[in-house]
Amino acid sequence: MDKKKFYITTPIYYPSGTWHLGTCYTTVICDAIARFKRKQGYDVFYLTGTDEHGLKIEQKAKEAGVTPKQFVDKKVANLKSLWDRLKISYDKFIRTTDDYHEKAVQKIFDKLYEQGDIYKGEYEGYYCVPCETYWTKTQLLDGKCPDCGREVSLAKESCYFFRLSKYQDKLINLLETNEEFLLPKTRRNEMINNFLRPGLNDLAVTRSSFSWGVPVSFDPKHVIYVWIDALMNYVTALGYAGEDDTLYKKFWPADIHMMGKEIVRFHSIIWPALLMALDIPLPKKVYGHGWLLMGQDKISKSKGNIVDPVELSDRYSVDAVRYYLLREIPFGQDGAYTTRAFLSRLNADLANDLGNLVKRTVAMVAKYNGGVIPAWSGNKVNTDQEIISLAEGTLAEVSKNMDELHIPEALEAIFRLVQRANKYIDENCPWVLAKEEANKPRLNDVLYVLLECIRVAGVLIEPFLPDTAEKIFSSFDGLTNEERAFDSVKSFGALKACGVIERDPIFMRVDVDKEIKEMESKIEVQEQKPETPAMAPLPPEITIDDFAKVGLRVGKVIAAEKMEKTEKLLVMKVQVGEEVRTIVSGIAKFYTPEEMVGKQVVVVANLAPHAFRGVVSQGMLLCADDGKGGVVLVSPEKIVASGSEVR
Ligand code: ME8
Ligand code: MG
Repeated sequence: MDKKKFYITTPIYYPSGTWHLGTCYTTVICDAIARFKRKQGYDVFYLTGTDEHGLKIEQKAKEAGVTPKQFVDKKVANLKSLWDRLKISYDKFIRTTDDYHEKAVQKIFDKLYEQGDIYKGEYEGYYCVPCETYWTKTQLLDGKCPDCGREVSLAKESCYFFRLSKYQDKLINLLETNEEFLLPKTRRNEMINNFLRPGLNDLAVTRSSFSWGVPVSFDPKHVIYVWIDALMNYVTALGYAGEDDTLYKKFWPADIHMMGKEIVRFHSIIWPALLMALDIPLPKKVYGHGWLLMGQDKISKSKGNIVDPVELSDRYSVDAVRYYLLREIPFGQDGAYTTRAFLSRLNADLANDLGNLVKRTVAMVAKYNGGVIPAWSGNKVNTDQEIISLAEGTLAEVSKNMDELHIPEALEAIFRLVQRANKYIDENCPWVLAKEEANKPRLNDVLYVLLECIRVAGVLIEPFLPDTAEKIFSSFDGLTNEERAFDSVKSFGALKACGVIERDPIFMRVDVDKEIKEMESKIEVQEQKPETPAMAPLPPEITIDDFAKVGLRVGKVIAAEKMEKTEKLLVMKVQVGEEVRTIVSGIAKFYTPEEMVGKQVVVVANLAPHAFRGVVSQGMLLCADDGKGGVVLVSPEKIVASGSEVR
């Protein structure tokens, strides 16, 4: 029989900002679910990717002085390495700049136009650039974007519309009759009452005020609205409207579209309407989780990197980060990040409960039984039956919670077993049993029960904390793949491995106050305001005519390299108006050649040429002293034409 399939998606990420702990929330949650389903025997397809078109990206690229594609390529590389670091087991990473995706989006757009679901009209509204969303005047909150609170601007353009209004009744019916379609329940009510009941307007689905997007095939002045382009990824990634739609046939409809609550509207209204228009089956579930709120404590308020997930995982392990995200935030609701809560979880659950259980048990087996895993008699005395029933029931408990998307509760169930095992040690006092040879059979049973509980916990925790499971497994000598599988934890006593191996503790306790202090001091250093040192004495006064003798022009660095055998000098090619100049500058200690390329700079363009080690410099770059012996470049505040005068 074919394996049952399971298709789960994250939203595709905007590759525009910097990633913080909150950004990782959706991917880590989906990763745990995907791994869990795989381990249950499902054929899983886990999709993530990047949403790379739109005005926001175009603007950011311009600010950075690079092309949009160069800009997103770099960001996407960063994002992929973040996902690798966090052990995100995605099956596919789609980029909306992928050729097959762009072609498929055009094809889909053509079809919708041909069948009359898209038509040409004119749009006027308030546009929020960061959200890439048009609002009507009544939708604005205090004149600002109701989603993000930022400034909007009145914009008018001729564009194409999608007949969203046509699907209003069908959408209301979908949300009202299919209680599983949109979760948690509160979001469903919000969509029905705030958006669907008041009435849907047709949706502007093209833009012509910028060009970084997928062009409409039959009217290429227009690019397709980034949200339409983006939503389509869930089917184009599977080959829909492409050359090979095997994956689409196999995996669509999606079992879960997971996302943060701010984009539920797009996924539970616009997306199903598009699918209805295309006569594509609807996804089974849309889930809008809450936000990880930052800035609630001193540490995260700063732009300091400490809530940088990479830094956190370097310092405390990847699984400490995954555990925190999966366990601490009530799923579906918002939760505020605090370093104290993060470290307390690490100490209490991972280091104390789990880490100690493994450490103590393995040490006892080494000490009392020469590291050999004893055979189990199967006798159940004292509280044996209780802990055994708990162990045998945990898989079912965890599975039920995972099915209902009660992620923290699933972990809680695993840790109940861990805590019960710790209590079992105290109840049975193996060190007392070890004193009498006559108690050896009982001691062996106690040790076996503990080892078996640890194995069960390891098997169950693997989808959530893969590294931790690996460490637990590595404490057993000769553990087979069968002993790592879910099937082996349904009834007690499948542990067959021959011995234990003493390892380093799987988690180290940390001194919470000390850690927080250390982080704070680190951040204070980062936050320190530039000091105001005594100003360097000014040269004698000059007239405006004196100043006019200095020919300052804006230039753009198009190439840069370090001058051979020097530490200080960069040799650059700088475009100044029509001409390209060679300029040597003593900034190599503060800027790498890579950083310089693409930057706009201010050039003293009529300075007499000067040779540095045989290279003639045709001008000089303006820099400001940073007060610490370094310099920072002076650069126009907005991008201007190269060659522009600086006055
Ligand atoms: O919205 N807490 O992308 P995105 C929890 N490109 N989740 C957070 C978070 C936080 N502090 N910050 C971000 C987009 N996220 C669109 C999607 S899909 C067709 C297009 C989550 O990069 C956010 O809720 O803004 C979302 O699920 C994901 O990060 C990507 O957000
Ligand atoms: Mg967002």
